[in-house]
Parts: sequence; structure tokens; C-alpha cells
Amino acid sequence: MNELDSLVVAAQAEFSGARTPADLENAKALFLGKAGKITELMKGLAALPVDQKKTRGASINEAKQAIEVALVERRQALADAELAVQLKAEALDVSLPGRRVPTGGLHPVSLTLERIEGIFGSMGFEVAQGPEIETDWFNFTALNTPEDHPARSMHDTFYVKGGSSDAPLLLRTHTSPMQIRHAVQHVKRYRASLDADMGMPEIRVIAPGRTYRVDSDATHSPMFHQCEGLWIGEAVSFKDLKVVFTDFCRTFFESEDLVLRFRPSFFPFTEPSAEVDIQFQSGPLSGRWLEVAGSGQVHPNVVRNMGLDPEKYIGFAFGMGPDRLTMLRYGVNDLRLFFDGDLRFLSQFQ
Ligand code: DAH
Repeated sequence: MNELDSLVVAAQAEFSGARTPADLENAKALFLGKAGKITELMKGLAALPVDQKKTRGASINEAKQAIEVALVERRQALADAELAVQLKAEALDVSLPGRRVPTGGLHPVSLTLERIEGIFGSMGFEVAQGPEIETDWFNFTALNTPEDHPARSMHDTFYVKGGSSDAPLLLRTHTSPMQIRHAVQHVKRYRASLDADMGMPEIRVIAPGRTYRVDSDATHSPMFHQCEGLWIGEAVSFKDLKVVFTDFCRTFFESEDLVLRFRPSFFPFTEPSAEVDIQFQSGPLSGRWLEVAGSGQVHPNVVRNMGLDPEKYIGFAFGMGPDRLTMLRYGVNDLRLFFDGDLRFLSQFQ
């Protein structure tokens, strides 16, 4: 082995021995640096006669190139090793199942409200919303409820501060005040037409929302939901109530053979009044009569409080319980489950 070959072998050995990039750069300096062995040999060329210079120069260059190749290879090897260490340290176990971000969903009662709005919407009913803190005028008086009616007692109704003795404030006990609120707005909008004896478009509205009573057990909650319905026109009859409500119930429960019963009852704001019972012809509740709503023909005093002439305008109203409809639809037997906020229960409706 000539001197140049040994130099290449020595460089290769030195480079392989370098454990870090810094070691490698030091090793490089020994051979290729300013005072390195190759550089020294190049300088020695100057002293040679011209004819030897060429062959000697070519040989030194060859050795230099071999050393450079060894350097590049070692550099790459060190870089690869470093990357391998880093990859190992930062390794992700892609076989682990991902963490799912749970998606929310609508509350079962909200699902029912959406359904109710959809069905009545398809029958041409508007959807109205109103305040949960009401005056006793809208909640009781305008609805023909006498001063001494038991529903007005502190025992049944949550009164709130801020009202006056002649205008007490309360948490609405039903959605019926929306009959008056909505009708008054409607009448106001068509005042000019009414004054000119040209009539007005019919009032056809539902008003879903939260209601409150001093009541709490498996089937009553101090906060619950109601949905009011009102249809007023010049020739709206009890028959229309039966058609509309029957259609609603059959669509809501997806049961064409569902039977309805209008059972005579009493409400101050309707005359005549009826409780609406439904009966399934199949399924777990088959054959039982289940009460789902109060209803009736709107009392003339109430029509008057809407700003309309009861001799000319007539119609029906109903009030139903979306909570109860939800219980019946899904077979839930305790109302409180809806409001406990337990995800084990609520997530079953997603
Ligand atoms: N507001 C009544 C209640 O809470 C339900 C009701 C009955 C509403 C008859 C009506 C109706 O609109 O016509 O018990």
C-alpha cells in the first residue's frame, strides 16, 4: 500500500471513529484542513520537477476525493443516526384509538318542540314566543280568570318581585297569555282594515315555551313546557279543532289509527271546553286513554280582550304538554329525568 492509500485508510478510520458531528469536523481538519495532511502534500508539489508534478498531483487529488467521499458518507450516517434517535423519542403510537370529541345534540323535549313546530307549520300556523315573566293581566285576567280562582293563589303560582299591587308579576303558569299577546299584535297590524270593515287574515299561531307552577313529583316539575295553539277567524268551528288536532296527533305519533276523544271540561278562557285524550291501537300503551291537551272554543270575553268583536270572530285554542308528549313518544316514565341533566339518559336521544 503506498503512502496515499494509507492516508485514505487512516482518514476512513478516523471518520468512523467520530461519534458526533463535531468530532467529525475535527477529524476532517486533520486531513483536509489548512494544516491537514492533504494540504501539506499539495504544498510539497511545488518542489517537484514539472514532469512529476502532474502525476503526483493527480494521485493526491484522487486520495483527496476518496477522503471527501468518506467524510460525506460519515456525515450522512451520523445525521441518520441522530434522526433515528429523535424519531424514536417522538414516536406516536398510531394504533391507539383516537380521542373522540363528543358532539352535542338536542334535548328530547327540544326535539319534540321542533316536531310540533314542523307539523303545525305545515298547516299554516306561525310560531310565536313571549315572556316567561308575565303580568297577572295576560296570565289570568285577560283570559277571563276570576279574581278568586285558585290558580291565582301563592300556593300554585310563583310571584316575582318588581310588580305592583294592581299589576303583580309572576312566572307564567301556562302559555295561554300568548293567545292575547299575539292576537293583540295581529289586530294592531290590521287595525285600519278592521276599522274599514274589511276584516283581517285569520290568526293561526302556536306558542311553545317554558311555564312554571308550584308543583313537583314524578309527573310534575316546577318548570315544564307547554305549547299553545290558537286559530281565530270568521267561521272557525269546533270541528276545525277536531280535524287539526287529530291530524297533529296522528302525524306526531306516526300512527294513522290513533283515536282522539274530546272530553267535556272547564277552563275559564274557553266555552265549551274539552280535554283531549288519545288512545293508541297498538304498542305498549294500547287501549289506554291518555290526556294530552286542554282545548275549547275561545270565550267571547277573551275574544274581546284580543280587540275583536266576539259577534264576528270565533275560533279555538288548545294547550298541550310537550314534556308529556315526549314521555309518551319515547316511553319515559319519570318527567324529572328530562331536567336532571344526566348524560346517560340524554345521550340516548342522539
Ligand atoms: N292553559 C291550560 C292549562 O294550562 C291549558 C289550556 C286549556 C289551553 C284549554 C287552552 C285551552 O288554550 O283552550 O291547563
